[in-house]
Amino acid sequence: MRFLAAALLLALCCLHTSQALCFNGQCQLRQICLRSADCATGLFCSTCVANGDLLPRCHRYTATNVTDVRGGLPFNKYAWLTTHNSFAIVGAPSHTGEPIVTFENQEDSIMDQLNNGVRGLMLDMYDFLGDVWLCHSFGGICYNFTAFEPVINTLKGIEGFLSANPTEIVTIFIEDYVRSPNGLTKVFTDAGLKKYWFPVSMMPKNGEDWPTITEMVAKNYRLLVFTSDMTKEASEGIAYNWRYVNENQYGNGGMKTGQCPNRGESAAMNAKSRSLVLMNFFRDNPVQLEACKYNSAPLQAMLPVCYAAAGNRWPNFLAVDFYKRSDGGGTFNALDTLNAGLLCGCSDINVCKLNLPFGVCNTSSSTKPP
Ligand SMILES: *[C@@H]1O[C@H](CO)[C@@H](O)[C@H](O)[C@H]1NC(C)=O
Ligand SMILES: *[C@@H]1O[C@H](CO)[C@@H](O)[C@H](O)[C@H]1NC(C)=O
Ligand SMILES: *[C@@H]1O[C@H](CO)[C@@H](O)[C@H](O)[C@H]1NC(C)=O
Repeated sequence: MRFLAAALLLALCCLHTSQALCFNGQCQLRQICLRSADCATGLFCSTCVANGDLLPRCHRYTATNVTDVRGGLPFNKYAWLTTHNSFAIVGAPSHTGEPIVTFENQEDSIMDQLNNGVRGLMLDMYDFLGDVWLCHSFGGICYNFTAFEPVINTLKGIEGFLSANPTEIVTIFIEDYVRSPNGLTKVFTDAGLKKYWFPVSMMPKNGEDWPTITEMVAKNYRLLVFTSDMTKEASEGIAYNWRYVNENQYGNGGMKTGQCPNRGESAAMNAKSRSLVLMNFFRDNPVQLEACKYNSAPLQAMLPVCYAAAGNRWPNFLAVDFYKRSDGGGTFNALDTLNAGLLCGCSDINVCKLNLPFGVCNTSSSTKPP
């Protein structure tokens, strides 16, 4: 079978390109592959038919370890890959006995997302069946057919990740429909996450830098939680999202060429009283097979637009659907672009490894990182 598949692929590809077939971890970015095991580390074999390319190629699925490139900076000097509706996963099993009928935005588990370098999670939380659940619903009410699972399962997984990775920092953005008193406090406590909680009192309120990631790790302030419910900052000590984060329009309204307007709840993108900027880039209706297209060139083209809209600030969170889908480097290349701008003022993350002064970007040496 393997031989037949290889022969078929050879016939398909090598009549059109000059590429020789590669195997066993030897295939580089965008080279034609038969299976993921043929791709080099950090790449997997997938297609982007939406871009008119029928051939499977090696595409990125892991983020650069940015603290390895340059550690010790304030938290707001980094960009973090964020999954929109991280929990709304294709093929997720029903926990109510009724089939799930709603939009799906991701394709692998939240644990896989974290292990691949995702550090921001957008989670919709609802009161449901006497507990707090992750639902992708409407009208503020969770139904059996929009219910994914009790959030405690996911929060315990995040606890496991933070405990196994003592220098990693995770941010949760809650679309918050929980009305039960202290409902969120209870689930975060039960999941063992309170020990990582970044206190609201330590969050910069007027455009100052955040603590450095070194300080955050030393103090174990490694979990940032933002809620969309304004009242919970006073009642439960959960930061009100748009007091700290400027955010552009989500959905199709955030994908119009050349525009990066703020969403209604957010201050203007360039309001410098907020030290963090979040960039949404996903469509109203997520389609797994089309995500590779918009996660590629259109996303890359939007980065400088949002940079300019945010008052010459590179976004700190990049929120996407189907984060692994691209025609090459996709969301990971976009994240590298953001981090290169934030870490060293250059366009290529490899330049940042050279530790030159901020804004010095010697391109002739950048092509050969040490
Ligand atoms: C990222 O790099 C830092 C610094 O080298 C290291 O301490 C950390 O464990 C790495 N993180 C992951 C998830 O590999
Ligand atoms: C929803 O699911 C729960 C748990 O399986 C069940 O007890 C309940 O009857 C279901 N509700 C409806 C309206 O079907
Ligand atoms: C860039 O770096 C190379 C190698 O260190 C050096 O030869 C070259 O003069 C530098 N170019 C600029 C414009 O600084």
